[in-house]
Amino acid sequence: MHPPSGINRRRFFMNSALVGAALAAAPLALHAAGSNTATRKIKVGVIGCGSVARMYLPHLSACPFVEIVSTCDIIPERAQRAADQLSIAHAYPHIDEMLAGEPFELLVNLTDMQEHERLNRQALEAGKHVFSEKPLANSLAAGQELLALALRENLRLWGAPTVVQSPQFAFMAQTLAAGKLGAISAAHGIYGHLGPNWAEFFYTEGGGSLPDLGVYNLTYLTGLLGPARAVTAMTSIITQQRAIHGKGEIEVTAEDNAMVLVDHGNGILSHVQCGFNYFTPHEHDHTHQDHHTIDIIGTGGQMLLAGYDWAPHGVDLATSASPRLERHADDTKGYAWECGASLAAECLATGKEPLFTPEHALHVVEIMQAARQSQAEGKRVDITSTFKWPVMEG
Ligand SMILES: NC(=O)c1ccc[n+]([C@@H]2O[C@H](COP(=O)([O-])OP(=O)(O)OC[C@H]3O[C@@H](n4cnc5c(N)ncnc54)[C@H](O)[C@@H]3O)[C@@H](O)[C@H]2O)c1
Repeated sequence: MHPPSGINRRRFFMNSALVGAALAAAPLALHAAGSNTATRKIKVGVIGCGSVARMYLPHLSACPFVEIVSTCDIIPERAQRAADQLSIAHAYPHIDEMLAGEPFELLVNLTDMQEHERLNRQALEAGKHVFSEKPLANSLAAGQELLALALRENLRLWGAPTVVQSPQFAFMAQTLAAGKLGAISAAHGIYGHLGPNWAEFFYTEGGGSLPDLGVYNLTYLTGLLGPARAVTAMTSIITQQRAIHGKGEIEVTAEDNAMVLVDHGNGILSHVQCGFNYFTPHEHDHTHQDHHTIDIIGTGGQMLLAGYDWAPHGVDLATSASPRLERHADDTKGYAWECGASLAAECLATGKEPLFTPEHALHVVEIMQAARQSQAEGKRVDITSTFKWPVMEG
């Protein structure tokens, strides 16, 4: 969840709309410039027409590989409004009607975090490819079942976040692969704000700051440093009651404050902290965030990511050969955090693979599950899953 709570949400969406408009003119990352034959459009159905859909729908509608044929929301007026805004012919109030209605190939699931697993399964069982907002499922075991189902049915399943697609991730991965930081020892990631105020699900079981916020740093750092071998964590609840728009005060039952230590093997340790109780300068407007949110240190250098990993601005690098911090990879064009569903459609249409994989998404689901177990049982928890790493070839 990216927009801030309170009055600044409006400003966030104004900024978001500008970013979306700029992106509509930008080429998609998987698509080689100048080679657009765009012969095949994937028919897409979008379920969940709330906050994040306002970012996905414009990106999808600007994608040359996409035809959005339907929207769906259990609050039917949201599905209808989204359909009206983009001249989408069909709007449904329930997934059963959506699956039985206008045919489509790719379901884009933008519903509450706790609903993803059930709806993703239902769509796969109905023969649809799926791109889902995070998390793909509520547990590693359930997610692995979904992936096995997809493989059996010759379907594709993908999940957000897509942070490994950014040019800044590519620069950092290449710098590490070239050994410029020497022997890597430690890394840190931080992401937080004051929490959303428009939906209860962020604060109840299956929600929390880990699957909403920590998921980004965990994906980024495992993408750079390799799969986790073990996790130790502490979590807590800072704000016991929250005011949610249209609901009044609700009890917070999911963690809203988390500290996760990850062992990546070969002695490399990282630390991710996230929470819904973090004051942020500029009220979380990502266009003004230039502070470092990811920090990687080795025996021969330090590398820091400026801006959020989902909205990076550049990479600052100092090495023993060049010890003053210098800015690199400061081109912010060509990547948007809401690109995942468009890239999934492009992959289905052209066969070009994105860098984000369901195995990586499920690995991060396991880390978050292990973090909760570590807090509950007061112990270090081994991680069993893995994913293809390095993320980038060569
Ligand atoms: N809001 C953001 O900026 C943002 C950013 C990145 C990721 N996300 C992720 O996107 C997802 C949605 O977040 P949001 O902020 O848009 O929430 P939201 O509450 O604004 O929107 C969710 C929508 O899904 C609908 N919905 C819920 N269950 C449904 C079901 N069974 N069938 C059909 N519709 C259903 C709700 O009615 C609602 O309109 C979450 O996983 C969140 O973590 C949000």
